[in-house]
Amino acid sequence: MCPGSYDPVTLGHLDIISRASRVFENIVVGVVDHPARKKQTVFTAEERVAFIEAETAKLGNVQVKAFDTLLVAFARENGAHTIVKGLRAISDFEYEFEMNQLNRKMAPDIESMYLMSAPEFSFLSSSGVKELAMFGGDLNGLVPDAVAGRLQEALQR
Ligand code: PNS
Repeated sequence: MCPGSYDPVTLGHLDIISRASRVFENIVVGVVDHPARKKQTVFTAEERVAFIEAETAKLGNVQVKAFDTLLVAFARENGAHTIVKGLRAISDFEYEFEMNQLNRKMAPDIESMYLMSAPEFSFLSSSGVKELAMFGGDLNGLVPDAVAGRLQEALQR
């Protein structure tokens, strides 16, 4: 299970998903679809799912689904025994450590594993990309081309 908000998916997320798809037989990408959890998203859950589906279809063992329940419940529903997340700079550690403890308390049988981000994606985040897009910055090499166009359109509106 590769969970996240993915608003929008970045090349860093896609790197983690594709590396995880070489380690595990099947991957479910879980896209958070809960309005109360984060402030408003730029893209609907359906749009975020579609972006990821388009970019991961070639991998052959990746399914993409939206969810609005506890992550561990969603993992169980899908028969997933491992939660895979990417870790970028040190700043990710504290948040991920907390999520790890919460998830472990609720579901000690589901393991969490962390893949270190590739250096070129270490400082790439969906929020950084949105900020760039809002001010007309170049998104080349940060998000898939299809996402870049849609993001610029959405944020400049
Ligand atoms: O940082 P992200 O991408 O928004 O992470 C989302 C997620 C669900 C992976 C993270 O918040 C997490 O591990 N949450 C555990 C608690 C939970 O199940 N929340 C409900 C989400 S619908």
